[in-house]
Amino acid sequence: MWLRMAESKSSTIPVLILKEGSRRSRGREAQHNNIMAAKIVAEAIKSALGPKGMDKMLVDSLGDVTITSDGKTILDEIEVEHPAAKMMVEVAKTQDDEVGDGTTSSVVVAGELLSKAEELIDKNVHPTIIIDGYRKAADRALEILENIAIPVNPTDKEALKKVAMTSMASKLVSENKEQLAEIAVDAVLHVARKIGDQYRVDLDDIMVEKKPGESLTETRMIKGIVLDKEVVHSGMPKRVENARIALLNCPLEVEKTEFDAKINIESPEEMNAFLKEEENILKGMVEKVAAAGANVLICQKGIDDMAQHFLARKGILAVRRAKKSDMEKLSKATGGRIITNIDDLDSGDLGYAELVEERKIGDDKMVFIEGCKDPRSVAILIRGGTERIVDEAERSVHDALCVVRDVIQEPKILAGGGAPEIEVAKELREYAESLPGREQLAVQAFAEAVESVPVTLAENAGLDPIDVISDLRAAHEKGEKWAGIDVFEGKVSDMKKLGVYEPVAVKKQVIKSATEAATMILKIDDVIAAGKMKAPPTPPGGPGGYGGMPPQY
Ligand SMILES: Nc1ncnc2c1ncn2[C@@H]1O[C@H](COP(=O)(O)OP(=O)(O)OP(=O)(O)O)[C@@H](O)[C@H]1O
Ligand SMILES: [Mg+2]
Repeated sequence: MWLRMAESKSSTIPVLILKEGSRRSRGREAQHNNIMAAKIVAEAIKSALGPKGMDKMLVDSLGDVTITSDGKTILDEIEVEHPAAKMMVEVAKTQDDEVGDGTTSSVVVAGELLSKAEELIDKNVHPTIIIDGYRKAADRALEILENIAIPVNPTDKEALKKVAMTSMASKLVSENKEQLAEIAVDAVLHVARKIGDQYRVDLDDIMVEKKPGESLTETRMIKGIVLDKEVVHSGMPKRVENARIALLNCPLEVEKTEFDAKINIESPEEMNAFLKEEENILKGMVEKVAAAGANVLICQKGIDDMAQHFLARKGILAVRRAKKSDMEKLSKATGGRIITNIDDLDSGDLGYAELVEERKIGDDKMVFIEGCKDPRSVAILIRGGTERIVDEAERSVHDALCVVRDVIQEPKILAGGGAPEIEVAKELREYAESLPGREQLAVQAFAEAVESVPVTLAENAGLDPIDVISDLRAAHEKGEKWAGIDVFEGKVSDMKKLGVYEPVAVKKQVIKSATEAATMILKIDDVIAAGKMKAPPTPPGGPGGYGGMPPQY
């Protein structure tokens, strides 16, 4: 079908602009569709918010199962189609990249901002007025959060631990949150660097490995590096103290030529000589490693069986096919240089660690590199009953590490449980009074949308949101700034007393990412979608008629 975009007045021939199969929706219809799609995404994720939130079981197209309550992971897995829904997925991603927590909240708030905007559009308030109002409200909300935030000492372990525990309270691993929080805080403090009077944390300095087996309580922090690899040869030492480590990025194998070559061997002697030569090449390589003074070799590529044998004879502990990212971490931690050509290896390139040891973890073996030259390098080894548990534990530890980093870098916290949202909404309503007519409506709508966090927390805890919100509003009117929802007792309480703390950076980012997404979606009044690529005709003999070959485009 050709799309008729315009018709010239002088003739009746239509002017064709878009390709066949394109679709276009505009004005109210486009806005309505986009808002609807975004709202559906928010609705889907809502039930995962808070400690009483539910988990989702997601099955991908290959049948792999993920169980999680992490907003970003849920959205990543559900592969949405609609462009506006995709923007909501982006919100969660931005939130995760910036601060690492609050992904569910940001999507819920964005959905509610759009829902409220639609009500205003229905009342004939123009989207640009709503957008202006939302932007003003967001700026004001950030100021309010900044004003009510409680400054803390960035190295105050107790406060950091509480923040980490709050981030894990809503996860599958909440039973073990105290122990995991302790590990997360230790790890982040370990890698924090003081620059001027501020701290900087690069979470890439913390290695997180997981191995199913035992239980979550066996999760440990290791001062060093853990490789999910085993020592390649049984004749090699399993424990090397005062390790001098060679890091190689080339194979210890005889290189295969890229072209086919034919060698005519006419006698057994020639055959022997040929094999001997190969052996000599490998032996030469091992000699070079030994001559450099290395007693540990970590190789990013393969190590030939024969080379393994020679290495074992020299008493060198070797690991092959290490990940590139692990090699980089090893280089940083041990001070060793990654060498690409074995001829270049000399003693100055070696890294140092007090101990390299292979240990049995569950059914597998792992190599631990401890007491590295750079004392800052740390690893967390996550254990847990099943693969799904260690996967979700890894995501939860990620959130915990992120929130601790957030507080160390911006040392201000808020009490959670919906308290800051109610306070922001209260002050925004006062602020709205100072604005003219329609913008006022937008700011009021923004205030209500922010309250969707406590509303959802209450709903998920099985409480009546209307009662709870009116109690909370009343408490805040009386000046009880930290009144929030104690979801376990099912009542309004002082969240500060309960020790439910969150980084101010997370709450600020929720406002920023939700506002950005909502205003972006509201600004769209025309959606032009190109037609899908045509499916190839079915081959004669039905699908699979060409011997099951995939279709060629
Ligand atoms: N003990 C608690 N009592 C009440 N509310 C709590 C408690 N612990 C956490 N919360 C609240 O739960 C909310 C966070 O829930 P959750 O961690 O499920 O979502 P998120 O942080 O927005 O997203 P995600 O963690 O999926 O990235 C915050 O508003 C927080 O204040
Ligand atoms: Mg969270």
